[in-house]
Amino acid sequence: MIIQFENVEKTFNSKKMQVHACKDINLAVDKGDIFGVVGYSGAGKSTLIRMVNALERPTSGRVTVNGVVINELKGKNLRKARKDISMIFQQFNLLEAKTVFENVAMPLILNHTPKDEIKRRVNEILKFVELSDKTDTYPGKLSGGQKQRVGIARALTTNPSILLCDEPTSALDPKTTDSILNLLQKVNRELNITIMIITHQINIVQKICNKVAVMEDGYVVEMGNVKEVFARPVQPITKAFVDTVVDQTIPESIFAAAAAEKQNSRIFRVRCLNGNVCDTFTPDLRKRFTAEINTLFMSVNEMQGSVLTIIGLQVKGSKEQIREVEQYLKENFESEEVAV
Ligand SMILES: Nc1ncnc2c1ncn2[C@@H]1O[C@H](COP(=O)(O)OP(=O)(O)OP(=O)(O)O)[C@@H](O)[C@H]1O
Ligand SMILES: [Mg+2]
Repeated sequence: MIIQFENVEKTFNSKKMQVHACKDINLAVDKGDIFGVVGYSGAGKSTLIRMVNALERPTSGRVTVNGVVINELKGKNLRKARKDISMIFQQFNLLEAKTVFENVAMPLILNHTPKDEIKRRVNEILKFVELSDKTDTYPGKLSGGQKQRVGIARALTTNPSILLCDEPTSALDPKTTDSILNLLQKVNRELNITIMIITHQINIVQKICNKVAVMEDGYVVEMGNVKEVFARPVQPITKAFVDTVVDQTIPESIFAAAAAEKQNSRIFRVRCLNGNVCDTFTPDLRKRFTAEINTLFMSVNEMQGSVLTIIGLQVKGSKEQIREVEQYLKENFESEEVAV
């Protein structure tokens, strides 16, 4: 693993009050991950990510980055460790009075890199983020998406192994968001950079992350592979997040009609993460069982190259006939009964 939090607590003490921003955080980010952290405002996300490069230090516990306990480093050693960890921000944090070239060059200038080398490196990176034509432009003349590309370019100049992103697309429209997410994916795949990304938009996690941690009130309340967490969210907050991108609700009127038959029928919701089952799922069940089986609802969701299908089923028949189907669904899929 490249980043590890062990029993991390962070408390802010001000004159008036104490804020316990991060509580009992234990998590590991592996090399090559795009690790998403989601949560509502004030959950402690920014505090958490800022402890990775020691912009904040834990009140207790350890944050290990690349094998070094970063919260114990100071001075030269800290500066050295930070060269390997870059960060981008929601508000881009560009220098308005400097050109794109100068903004991107800044980390290299601060490192006393020779001029020729700076020129070579900056032009190479600007090409990578597709901004070669904006070299001499000032940030004021750029769109939000272009500004974030400059932010990303600046973050890449020092060849980091980790890129921290705090709400990188929150100031952007959906189309621009997509182009920035594609760029982050390219950064991860082509440059082998591990990415940690903080967001309150779960669709960003769905699009590019392989792992996710859900934060609520300072705690990480749920964590795992994105596919698994999306297929079976456990905590109410995770369900609420996943609900906004994965449609799992049987339409009201269809549900009401099916629920009206509750004497000899029950309703189930099934989740399949096994490729495309749209055509085959219900016909297969009908072949296996004597109960009458109706598809009330189906939603098909792309998830990291896999397909997550959510199916609402009405099963009609005798108690025993329905129980057989229920048993089979339980053993072979993620399923639950929907109360009528
Ligand atoms: N420097 C600080 N001093 C005092 N309290 C702070 C400080 N930084 C953060 N906090 C508090 O810690 C809590 C968590 O803040 P944090 O910024 O980590 O949340 P967040 O999840 O990033 O929220 P948002 O989505 O709004 O950015 C909040 O209650 C915040 O007010
Ligand atoms: Mg924040």
